[in-house]
Amino acid sequence: MVRHFRRDDDITPAEQRQIIDLAIAMKADPYSRKPLAGPKSVALIFDKPSTRTRVSFSVGVADLGGNPLIIQSGDSQLGVKESIPDTARVFERMVAAIVWRTFAQSDIDEMADHSAVPVINSLSDDFHPCQLLADLMTIREHKGSLAGLNVAFIGDGSSNMANSYLVAGAMAGINVRVATPATYQPLADAHDTSARIASATGGSVLVTDDVAAVLVDADVVVTDTWISMGQESEKDQRLADFAGYGVTVELLAKAKRDAIFLHCLPAYRGYEVDADVIDGPQSVVWAAAENRLHAQKALLNFLLTAT
Ligand code: CP
Ligand code: NVA
Repeated sequence: MVRHFRRDDDITPAEQRQIIDLAIAMKADPYSRKPLAGPKSVALIFDKPSTRTRVSFSVGVADLGGNPLIIQSGDSQLGVKESIPDTARVFERMVAAIVWRTFAQSDIDEMADHSAVPVINSLSDDFHPCQLLADLMTIREHKGSLAGLNVAFIGDGSSNMANSYLVAGAMAGINVRVATPATYQPLADAHDTSARIASATGGSVLVTDDVAAVLVDADVVVTDTWISMGQESEKDQRLADFAGYGVTVELLAKAKRDAIFLHCLPAYRGYEVDADVIDGPQSVVWAAAENRLHAQKALLNFLLTAT
């Protein structure tokens, strides 16, 4: 049966661990697996801009023996003159997997529903599951393990990153704490799903507007832009609403002394994070950016060899 990665919980907690284990192994031995030998092609479709996702998937597909096929929004008929199911029916005859960055999560779900090859969500308005594999891998590299850690996500609780942190973090047995203004809540589905998963994995979930509360004993401090792609017209309102939620040196000092700082990037210094933090000694953002490559190679290997 074909496996997709539409959102973080499309894999089990055990499979998440297995993929992160493989990512760490493939980082040490980058050309050890060639599931795309042929070369087989992988479609990389972008309806939003990207630096890391474009480069990491392109390089990763090549490392796995395959051919990356970048399709920029506007260059294809997808969603304009041709339906998602018809596009899936064409793609599945020629590519080994479809990686799609777009707006609506329902569009990714529809593509997966009609595709005989794996569909990977490389960011939707609701989730950014590939980033979470890289973040969890990075946290594990720095902290040794994941279960029982305290992760503080500060900022836009309604973002794709916050939703994915809740679900993927709970899967890893992490205590995920989100500090966000009351009007920027995570998706109810992500919140409820993460609470249910946490009760099985030993993790926990907290969503609050209290920044200081989430920083107590925090092992990891995370933020994301306050203005996600597609929200540019809300900039002034959002900058006002998120005042006090920027990660400053003073805020970071309230976490554990050895806490690490993560941001999926691109970052806006002076807004959601100060330059002293993202460019400071506790920041591991560049390691996480590199780990997109290793984590996605492991994910592709997993999906392409799943039985
Ligand atoms: N973090 C991330 O997905 O970066 P890009 O938008 O540059 O792909
Ligand atoms: N939340 C951000 C993540 C960028 C990688 C956005 O969707 O724009």
